[in-house]
Amino acid sequence: MSINWFPGHMAKARREVEENLKKVDVVIEILDARIPHSSHNPMMDEITRHKPRVVVLNKVDMADPKATEAWVSKFKSEGKYPVALDGRHNQIIKKIEPLAVKATAEIFERMEKKGIGRRATRAMIIGIPNVGKSTVINNIARKKGAKTGNTPGVTKQQQWIKAGERMELLDTPGILWPKFEDETTGRKLALTGAIKDTVVPLDEVAIYGMEFLMEHDLERFNRFYNIDVSPEDGIVEVFDAIGRSRGLKAGGNEINYEAVTNRLIYDIRNGKIGRYTFDTAEES
Ligand code: G4P
Repeated sequence: MSINWFPGHMAKARREVEENLKKVDVVIEILDARIPHSSHNPMMDEITRHKPRVVVLNKVDMADPKATEAWVSKFKSEGKYPVALDGRHNQIIKKIEPLAVKATAEIFERMEKKGIGRRATRAMIIGIPNVGKSTVINNIARKKGAKTGNTPGVTKQQQWIKAGERMELLDTPGILWPKFEDETTGRKLALTGAIKDTVVPLDEVAIYGMEFLMEHDLERFNRFYNIDVSPEDGIVEVFDAIGRSRGLKAGGNEINYEAVTNRLIYDIRNGKIGRYTFDTAEES
């Protein structure tokens, strides 16, 4: 489900997150490992001010491993507790729980000094739509198909899920809005499926992705589409080559550019061409 984020939605989403934050010791922010900067809601830092933060770089199976390492180091240097994973794997709790416990160690030491006994670390998941929040929660809860939805303001009866031996997790994630800092951010969000089509013109998304891939690994790009384009070729030449190679014709010999656009987006979004990270840790 996708929604348009109007100021009313944003205010409501923020209020809900702030309400839930009072109940937890640690925040688990889910980011898309391919766009750790663009999938981060800037309001997050303001809202979660004093809470320790575990950062899950999700969908790591589709991200560039070297770039992921750089992002993990960057988040560590900022005092956060990062972990890169594939949210669909059923062992993720073994990665997340120790980090959440470590992130909250000081809180519980202070409580113990006051004579308050150890209880489970309480956590909640926060992120923009489509980064994998439901996948992670359902995986931890071992439920199948319980989509949490992307609509803020739908109040549900919340429950704590037992997440490992020492952690409890709110079963409803906090949903924040994607930011549109600039056109490139919008294109990256669309390219990775964080925002679903229509918001950003699809041809711009496809061209951005195509140019990124050609710049980063032209050989792989050519191999994947079984074409032989060079950096000097224009957009139309590259689209023509892909259209011919994939048989995407509009009738006669005309190339169906819409089909090429959709194919490019599909292949990049689903990691078919290879593993790419569109935000670099050094620049963010
Ligand atoms: P959300 O709650 O944050 O909105 O996201 P959700 O869990 O629904 O995940 C969005 C899509 O991302 C799902 O695909 C899900 O399977 C996929 N996904 C989640 N984690 C990972 C991961 O680590 N690796 C990969 N490759 N995919 C992951 P979907 O069911 O096909 O949904 P959609 O593409 O139709 O939105």
